[in-house]
Amino acid sequence: MADLSTTFTGVRLQNPFLLSSAPPTESESNIVRAFEAGWGGVVTKTIGLHPVVNVLGPKTKFLRADADSAHLSMKKRPGAALHSSWNWELISDKTLDWWVPRLGRIKKAFPQHALVASIMAGSGNDTELRHWQELALACEKEGCDALELNLSCPHMDRPDMGSNVGKDKELVSIVTKVVKEAARIPVWAKLTPSTTDIVVEARGAFLGGADAVVSSNTFTSLPLIDADTLDFEVNVEGLVSTGGLGGPAILPLSLAKMSQLTQAFPDKSFSGIGGISTFEHALNYFLLGCGTVQVCTAAMLDHAIGPNIIKGLNDGLARFIETHGDKGWTKLDDFIGLRRDRVVAQSKIRRADEKEYRGGYEREGYAEPAAG
Ligand SMILES: Cc1cc2nc3c(=O)[nH]c(=O)nc-3n(C[C@H](O)[C@H](O)[C@H](O)COP(=O)(O)O)c2cc1C
Repeated sequence: MADLSTTFTGVRLQNPFLLSSAPPTESESNIVRAFEAGWGGVVTKTIGLHPVVNVLGPKTKFLRADADSAHLSMKKRPGAALHSSWNWELISDKTLDWWVPRLGRIKKAFPQHALVASIMAGSGNDTELRHWQELALACEKEGCDALELNLSCPHMDRPDMGSNVGKDKELVSIVTKVVKEAARIPVWAKLTPSTTDIVVEARGAFLGGADAVVSSNTFTSLPLIDADTLDFEVNVEGLVSTGGLGGPAILPLSLAKMSQLTQAFPDKSFSGIGGISTFEHALNYFLLGCGTVQVCTAAMLDHAIGPNIIKGLNDGLARFIETHGDKGWTKLDDFIGLRRDRVVAQSKIRRADEKEYRGGYEREGYAEPAAG
């Protein structure tokens, strides 16, 4: 049997696969089922102290593509393939008091599984910053193995929460530092992909003392408009607001973000999320330098917590390690980051006539005078 275990930011995991913070981890029964199914760890649905009231009607929908036409729609139909999930769900609508005894019970029943608490508070004043510490300490006291800071939810109204914090490198740094000052367990910062250069915010997180950076949360997006009804495919009384895109469509987008991150900070720890449903998908993140990966959309569509997904991930990793045994590989650590440095600038890619390409610039010195 191949050894699937790994240690990430000091947290021992039976395998590097976690359920990400989302509906699959919103309740005790889901988390228990997830551990029984074989997930190495879970990140709880984000816990906060502010009141949470979700929109009326469905909070998540799935966009599907037809094989024989360019039609994309959320309408259920046979033969269509999953393109993405779209959601405008807020953080957990359960209070910290609701979560606390459950976290303790889960950890006691599953000491060998990693229980990571996702937390979120505001950042506009000292009281809000103290809320981060209150959440962190409450979860730590119940035995949680690590904390994940939600600096990335894309649909918060408050300018001092979620991705609005994640877009501000100073706030990212301040929030991380405040939590690090209070917590003894590792702190992971989950960043938003909706910025120009995620390396800037990641630097803020590491300056604040983050033990790992997690990427990506969902990408800001809108549901499509139905050409017959002229309504957005998700709406409440005709109205919609931007939500988050997850699932297969974001795999290549999230990989590009991860590649920037692992190249900028080759010695730091990263957890990859976005579009993973098979080991082959996860392998991309490992080869770019991630020590763990997390899954949401695929698990939601597989009995709510992904029993078949985790089986495929674990079997795939075991098979991969065995197949590459001739290279001396025995565990995940042997191939983490192996393709990180294959992502280079355009100018480093060979072309038919090497001499003619100078990164898009004119020949050195003055440009050739125009003819005539
Ligand atoms: C319905 C739904 C709710 C989510 N809620 C949270 C949340 O509370 N906290 C958080 O950090 N991320 C949340 N996410 C983001 C996921 O954890 C994950 O980062 C994202 O869906 C990308 O992964 P995927 O492509 O596997 O879905 C949510 C995603 C969905 C679809």
